[in-house]
Amino acid sequence: MKTLLTGGAGYIGTHTAIELLQHGHDVVIFDNFSNSHLEAVRRVETITGQHVPTIQGDVRDQYALTDALTQHGIDSVVHFAGKKAVGESVSQPIDYFDNNVNGTLVLLRAMQACKVFKLVFSSSATVYGTPSYLPLDERHPTSSTNPYGRSKLMVEEILADVHHSSSNWALTVLRYFNPIGAHPSGCIGEDPADIPNNLLPYIAQVAVGRREHIQVLGNDYDTPDGTGVRDYLHVVDLARGHVKALERLQHLTGPELQTINLGTGQGHSVLEVIRAFEQACGKSLPYIMAPRRPGDIASCYANPARAQELLGWTAEYDLATMCADAWRWQSANPKGYRG
Ligand code: WQD
Repeated sequence: MKTLLTGGAGYIGTHTAIELLQHGHDVVIFDNFSNSHLEAVRRVETITGQHVPTIQGDVRDQYALTDALTQHGIDSVVHFAGKKAVGESVSQPIDYFDNNVNGTLVLLRAMQACKVFKLVFSSSATVYGTPSYLPLDERHPTSSTNPYGRSKLMVEEILADVHHSSSNWALTVLRYFNPIGAHPSGCIGEDPADIPNNLLPYIAQVAVGRREHIQVLGNDYDTPDGTGVRDYLHVVDLARGHVKALERLQHLTGPELQTINLGTGQGHSVLEVIRAFEQACGKSLPYIMAPRRPGDIASCYANPARAQELLGWTAEYDLATMCADAWRWQSANPKGYRG
């Protein structure tokens, strides 16, 4: 396969690039670097010993996309590019729908023009809204409570209409649960541009001394210890799920639309994650109890059976490994790629 990774210089994109290259595939990265670093791509090249063609471009630029697709002989696309902070989406909905929805439409039009019809789309478990049952399987009803989640759901619905409109397209929607951790080399990892919205990078920045203390956002949920429960998934496991999804598309001879959860099937609470990270970094981490974050749900974890059935994929790494790998990255790169 020769795959274009839109947003491929980002956290999940770089980890996926490594796994694709190490499984014998070729990748081209297309990124506007609004929330990523070229240094991360350089490190992918160091880890793999392979050159990674990289194009600075925006997915809303159809000409740039068409050039990339044709000049590099692309036969498939993984679409990572998009904005992904729930809180920010509430204050900047136009930006979110322009980047996430309009960007996907422009990409689909460029792919159609270039007769590239194999696409893996980066979706999110956030499309399940407040779970009416757990664990979450792909048949669970979808809903959205914020513009970020709505943008993901809109794209899923666009892809369903594209699938029904033509027999050309082979489409896979991957619904990520909570990706955390880093490549075991410690050379690449999660590097939020501003104050981390997500739990794990915030904990890692406290551990390395960049932040004062962790805020536990709510300890009165209906969960075993009162704090939020999520399905944390090692980013390398997630990346390998993309390899499996692309290899499935590679062997497909007809049209298809599949929607697949990528999660471990196990939930961990905020306090469990803090304790696991303390074990990984060998320090006691300060935290305070704080009010719930608006829009947060109590528990969310996957039924991963369909990923095993369709892709032969299951997560391998446990929470201890995720925290150890995240700490190795953060302690070696206290200021991320800007260091
Ligand atoms: C996890 C748990 C918080 C921060 C979101 C998006 C999802 C995906 C991942 C993009 C919750 C608690 C958090 C903190 C805390 N994003 N928490 N203190 O909200 O499950 O998912 O990010 O793809 O689509 O919805 O992840 O890491 O923000 O929160 O106590 O400083 O940690 O309340 O229970 P979330 P998260």
